[in-house]
Amino acid sequence: MGILRGRFITLEGGEGAGKSTQAQRLAEALRGQGIEVVVTREPGGSPRAEKIREAILSGLIAPLGPVAEAMMFTAARIDHLDKTIRPALKRGAFVVCDRFADSTRAYQGALGNIDPRLIRSLERIAIGADKPDLTIMVDVPAAVGMARAAQRGGAPDRFESEAPAFHEALRRSFLEIAASEPERCVVVNGAQAPEIVARDIWSAVQARLPVAGEAPKMILKPKSKPRWAAKSKAGAK
Ligand code: TYD
Repeated sequence: MGILRGRFITLEGGEGAGKSTQAQRLAEALRGQGIEVVVTREPGGSPRAEKIREAILSGLIAPLGPVAEAMMFTAARIDHLDKTIRPALKRGAFVVCDRFADSTRAYQGALGNIDPRLIRSLERIAIGADKPDLTIMVDVPAAVGMARAAQRGGAPDRFESEAPAFHEALRRSFLEIAASEPERCVVVNGAQAPEIVARDIWSAVQARLPVAGEAPKMILKPKSKPRWAAKSKAGAK
């Protein structure tokens, strides 16, 4: 990718970690620096990937097993990268993505019976050179996250309804990923008040990516919102 390539930031964590709120706050802070920001999410983030999201979260794919689910998440990711993420990075925008490939490693890995080499192969095929520049692991104890997710109301989705042991395994898995790739990942304590979490994330971004220094070169007009983005995540629940 050319010199103008933007920066790719992902937020990861278990259920109820507060990633979606923090993605919006981070985007606002970056926009305050005059940077174009595309906020997106997985599964989804492009019209086709949003359709795959519906299929997965409705439980349609679950009977086929975690390997099939991992493949579906990967298929959605391929389209998301092609249609949303790469074009944004290419024009110099920052992309803030709520979940990405670490969620496949953690969730589908924690569901068991998947050779981690298979997950890594799928990841390589889908992502290629476009790995995140920075991944923020928003860490909360599983019980705290589950209680927050329950407060949001509505029927639990495909993964929210898994047993507490699954959510504990997830948390360990995200922390292991962070420990194994410290150059890419920063762990933030998501159990704190949202403003404090936002401040910690902003500090991490400032420390890892030369945001303020680059801002004046990167002023670009935001494009209009894609159609799928009109349906907000909160509204979809
Ligand atoms: P979502 O409602 O977006 O959850 P959250 O608000 O917790 O981000 O639903 C996405 C669900 O899909 C979530 O339970 C995590 C799961 N998931 C995977 O299992 N594998 C993946 O690769 C991704 C991206 C998400």
